[in-house]
Amino acid sequence: MKIFLDTANVEEIRQAAALGVLDGVTTNPTLAAREKRPFRELVLEICEIVGNGVVNTEVVSTDTEGMLREAREMASWHPNIVVKVPMTRAGVQALAVLSQEGVRVNITLVFSPSQALLVAKAGAYFVSPFLGRVDDISGDGMALLRDILTIYRAHNFRTQVLAASLRHPMHVVEAAKLGAHIATMPFKVFEQLFAHPLTDRGLEGFLKDWENARAVLGEIVEPEAARKARR
Ligand code: G3P
Repeated sequence: MKIFLDTANVEEIRQAAALGVLDGVTTNPTLAAREKRPFRELVLEICEIVGNGVVNTEVVSTDTEGMLREAREMASWHPNIVVKVPMTRAGVQALAVLSQEGVRVNITLVFSPSQALLVAKAGAYFVSPFLGRVDDISGDGMALLRDILTIYRAHNFRTQVLAASLRHPMHVVEAAKLGAHIATMPFKVFEQLFAHPLTDRGLEGFLKDWENARAVLGEIVEPEAARKARR
């Protein structure tokens, strides 16, 4: 499963990229607005940071023609851009045209298996079910993800399922267990994936024991002066 960061903040993206496990980034108009800087410039900087990873950027037009114009424009900015288009009738119409043109489209704001079925048929590259927002209204986000994966596997759809709106590490783990192709998450959740109190406690114990026996154990990396003296 690929790991994407759901943010437009370049510092967060830089930190995650440096850890070597980041496969891409998803943005949306809300996340972009928080950064208070020109969008194209922001997106190009994100593309540079993630290297070979994909960067998802969203259209803001609501009519098909406007979506097509914005999608083509954004796709021309960088080869790693995937264009997010909302799950509306106009959006699916735009998707059908864009997929024919070879523009990769991520259909966003997906909340039902029937919506996911339609966008796979129309050639979506990614489909983004918003699991956390389903849970927010007492629904079952994981059941939605399971249904979509079942339908896609039954019919060999090539659309990749991008589990979105993830709020905590167990959302990520459950999405991975179900076989989602990608999970996108806020930086906070990404950081939480690393943490375990037993790791911290275990490491503390190892280091303390080593320190107490250091005089006998010596150094793993011999100091330069000692190495020269030995030659
Ligand atoms: O970027 C799409 C999605 O991940 C948004 O998440 O937390 O605003 O529901 P959230």
